Amino acid sequence: MNTSAIVFTDAVAPAVERLIAESGAGSVYIIADHNTERLCLPLLLRGSSLLQQATVLTTPAGDRHKTLAAAAALWDALSARGATRSSIAVCLGGGMVTDLGGFVASTFKRGIPYINVPTTLLGAVDASVGGKTGINHGGLKNEIGVFAPPYATVAGTCFFDTLPREQLLSGYGEVLKHALLTDAAAVARAIAPDALGGGSEALMPVLRDSIATKMRIVASDPREKGPRKALNLGHTAGHAFESLALTSRKPLPHGHAVAFGCVVALVLSRMLAGMDSDVLYAVAAFVREHYGHLPAGCADHPELLRLMHHDKKNNYASGPVNFVLLNAPGRPAIDTPVADTDITAALDIASDLL
Ligand SMILES: NC(=O)c1ccc[n+]([C@@H]2O[C@H](COP(=O)([O-])OP(=O)(O)OC[C@H]3O[C@@H](n4cnc5c(N)ncnc54)[C@H](O)[C@@H]3O)[C@@H](O)[C@H]2O)c1
Repeated sequence: MNTSAIVFTDAVAPAVERLIAESGAGSVYIIADHNTERLCLPLLLRGSSLLQQATVLTTPAGDRHKTLAAAAALWDALSARGATRSSIAVCLGGGMVTDLGGFVASTFKRGIPYINVPTTLLGAVDASVGGKTGINHGGLKNEIGVFAPPYATVAGTCFFDTLPREQLLSGYGEVLKHALLTDAAAVARAIAPDALGGGSEALMPVLRDSIATKMRIVASDPREKGPRKALNLGHTAGHAFESLALTSRKPLPHGHAVAFGCVVALVLSRMLAGMDSDVLYAVAAFVREHYGHLPAGCADHPELLRLMHHDKKNNYASGPVNFVLLNAPGRPAIDTPVADTDITAALDIASDLL
């Protein structure tokens, strides 16, 4: 079994059972947060005697609990409940649980295998694939962690029925980004009228597209040395929108900021990289329809520019801001330096479109 296998199915329990059997693991530990234990665990356990016999370890929900204390509590619980090097963990939750649970599993007794069962759209298309695990520390996001791919990820849409709409939309920002990094057909599927309005099951085709693209890009650059930077599409302006919104009373979910950021990147791609304007207008219309107008709190263009120059991931205090642009869908141009005058013009145009 490839250590990064992805199984797409809504028959989650049999798939997880089969993977556990294949792995040869002895005892099974399910790591969930308080919400996924209540909302998703019954679905995972249904009809599976193997999983019903597993030990369930529950951790508090939310990114603010992705901490060393939570990791230590899980290491302690694994020890106390008899986990050994031949045990396997099943991480049932959104990106918080797969990041924390993956980190705990990969470091417990020098590493036991884990299977991700993502229960949020963001978790499925982003956090649960790619092998990054970790915790926040010292006030910094994902400060401590390891690259440790899951034994497998079981991706289904059956858990999304209980996701709040805003959570679903936030995950869809990454879906949109992955589609733009795939090809024109994937973009058309991602912005099709029924893609977001057709219930959870209708999301399976975009889930497949999205995960395949993330896997392809990660496989080309597992340690994030170069090509993986393409995954930063939409994030340069997106992070600035997110940071600016934080200062207002209405924070902007990450994926919403990425969706708006993708529109800014597409405007710049049209201006500077030969991108077709049809793609820009179609994606902008989709974003406006589903995410609404750019929030009023994000209208301060000089402040957005300042934030882009001081992004914590890329400090461009002394030179132009670098963007991921697109020559066409699926053809990214990473590290493209963009002059401040062009960024300001693109923010103006994006604001008109949104
Ligand atoms: N490792 C990576 O490559 C990577 C990539 C992106 C994000 N992340 C991390 O992922 C986390 C964000 O992921 P997220 O948005 O999934 O957040 P999350 O895991 O915190 O989930 C958000 C909320 O939804 C609840 N929830 C989960 N599944 C549910 C369901 N099916 N129905 C109802 N509620 C449900 C959770 O309990 C939580 O309260 C952050 O910690 C971020 O740093 C990691």
